[in-house]
Order: sequence, then structure tokens, then C-alpha cells
Amino acid sequence: MKTIRDFDLKGKRVFLRVDFNVPMDKGTILDDTRIVEAMPTIEYALKAGAKVILCSHLGRPKGKRVSELSLSPVFEYLQRRLKASVRFLEDITSEEAKNFVSNLGEGEVLLLENIRFYEGESKNDPQFAQLLASFTDVFINDAFSVCHRAHASVVGVAELVKEKGVGFLTEKELKYLTKVIGKPERPFYAIIGGSKVSTKIGILKNLLPRIDKLIIGGAMANTFLAALGYKVGASLLESEYLDIAKEIIQEAKEQEVKIYLPVDAVVERGEEACEVLLEEIEEGDKIFDIGDETVDYFCSALEGAKTLIWNGPLGYFERIPYHWGTIGVARRVATLNAVTVAGGGDTLSALKMAGVLTAFSHTSTAGGAFLEYLEGKELPGLAVLK
Ligand code: 3PG
Repeated sequence: MKTIRDFDLKGKRVFLRVDFNVPMDKGTILDDTRIVEAMPTIEYALKAGAKVILCSHLGRPKGKRVSELSLSPVFEYLQRRLKASVRFLEDITSEEAKNFVSNLGEGEVLLLENIRFYEGESKNDPQFAQLLASFTDVFINDAFSVCHRAHASVVGVAELVKEKGVGFLTEKELKYLTKVIGKPERPFYAIIGGSKVSTKIGILKNLLPRIDKLIIGGAMANTFLAALGYKVGASLLESEYLDIAKEIIQEAKEQEVKIYLPVDAVVERGEEACEVLLEEIEEGDKIFDIGDETVDYFCSALEGAKTLIWNGPLGYFERIPYHWGTIGVARRVATLNAVTVAGGGDTLSALKMAGVLTAFSHTSTAGGAFLEYLEGKELPGLAVLK
């Protein structure tokens, strides 16, 4: 796969697919991580004399113009941040669009309005892809986080352009993920959490043959605990996945992977948060976090790790005081002398809350794409670049 370094960008129209799908509240960007992470590629292209066309989606407007999902706050942000002329193109299908692009000078930036305002984007419509390609000399994908979407600005346009490759962010994501999946230094441990086991079956099955230990937390652990015969009260439970949980436990045994499950919990009992042993869970209790004993148990299990992957929080960290379990384990991971990789929006928010985000070797900006990559699926946005 080529990278942006492989092309002579001078005077070329570089269509840079980025992911500016950032959390926003009434036009205020709440977290600019994804924009900041794309900056090295944008700045490199500008320095090389490219005419940079930035393309991103925001939310899921389903082919309609939704004013709250406009990228205009990102346009203002880029105007402040970039030492270059930045313009904003509201309608890529308009006659004026052609002038905008042909008037773009070397070292200038044109940000396109939310690409999902057009129906052709998610449908990967050939005509829409053709329109995007008509603005493009070099296609650069710096949005690993959308590579699982076979959309026009990710796949369709890339199919039509000869000079194509990845930017620095996609390159960095791939460097760490291929290392973890392909050549991890052993022992290799995984922490998988989150609310539903149903969304994690693929990743669990693909990781089992590669890892030495599997630590399971979050509400998805309830399904495993119930599969082992524990009562989980009124906690979130996917009863239709009990057999799958048993299957995973069995597969882990066969592959000599030790599974670590919670040994105690913090439950919501009425209005109170109570720390209880698994045997003490009552009918109306809702498990919202792992307890202190589990934190110690998980932390000691992490000893000696050389590679670690983490996806999914270990408790309902958004609701205080159910954040301590995830924080406790995150702080231990931060001290490991290992390659540590984490991904998923919630996971990163929890690690940020724990103040350990920068202690990880790599924190992926991707959610769905991170999971699909770790499930072993081929991502269409990458396949098209090969
Ligand atoms: C993400 O936030 O994971 C990416 O921007 C992809 O967004 P999507 O799930 O709406 O395609």
C-alpha cells in the first residue's frame, strides 16, 4: 500500500478523506482529537504544494441536509488552526463547485460540506464517485475509522483514481494493529468490555488463537457469569447468547487461554451503589461496575504482559461512582512495559477520564473499523488501496 510520501503532490489536487466525525454540541466541537490526528497529513500535503480537498462525514444524516450536522464549525476550527487559506464548499454538485476547485491554489485548502448530505455517498453511487474523482489527482485515505464503510468517498472514488494511498494517521493505525494481530510480542493479553457480548463475538473468536489471557468486564461479563451459573439480578443480560458465552469459554480452554471474569461487583441497589461478592447479588441489583477485588485480580493478571489490546469499558463509567473499576485497571495498564493499544470511542473516553490516554502506545481513533479489523475482516476502504 502506498503512502502520501510516495507521490509528488506539487500542484496536484489531493482529495484527502479524513474523519472529522467529532462530538459536537450546538456548533461547539467537544473533542477535537480526530482533527488534531489528521493535521500531520494535511500540513504535509500543504507544504508539498498540494491543493488540498478535505472530505469528511459528520453523523448519519442519511442523504439529507441537516443543519446540526454541518461541518461549518470544523471549517472555522481549520481557519484558526491552519496557516493556509481555507475555504468551504457547501454544495459539491453545484456549478460553482467546479470553479472553487479550479481556482484552488497550491498550498490552499477546500473543506467539503458533510459528504453524507448526498445520497450517493452511502450508496457508493458510481456517478457520485465519478463526481468526486473529477476533483481528484491523488486520493489519500487518512480516515482508518471509516475504512469499514464501502462508501463513495472511501471506496468509489479510490477505484477511479490511479494515484492513491494512505495518510500518516491511517498508516499509524495500521502499523499498530498489524503488529498486534500479526506479530505480537508474548505474552499477549486482551481486555474486552462494553455492554453487549453480541457485538464482541467476532473479536473474541479472532483473538482467542492469538492471546494468552482474556480479561472480560463491562455488562457483557454478565452473560459469561450467567453462563457459569451465577445470578446477575436485574443486570443487563443477553440470555440468547448464553450458549455462545459457553462456547467461548470452552474454546478458550482448548486454546489454553485463561479467561478472567469479575469476582465481585458494584451494583445499583435501589438508590445506593453497593459493593458485593457475586454470591451476594440480589434479584433487583443492577451490576454497573467491577468491584475492588476484581480490580486487584485483573491488575495482577496483567503482570508481565508484553502486548495488550483493550476494547470496551469495564463498567458504566459515564455514571459516577461506576467509573472506578475501569479507572483502576486503566492506571495499571498505563504502568506496563508493553505495547498497549486501545480503541473504541467509549474506551478512549474512559481512558481519558483515567488520565492515561497518552500512556498507551497507541489509541485508535476508530470504533467500528477497529473492531472489524480485529475481527479479521477485510476493510473495503483498505482493500481498494492495495
Ligand atoms: C466512527 O465514528 O466510528 C466513524 O466516523 C464512522 O462513523 P459511522 O459509524 O457513522 O460510519
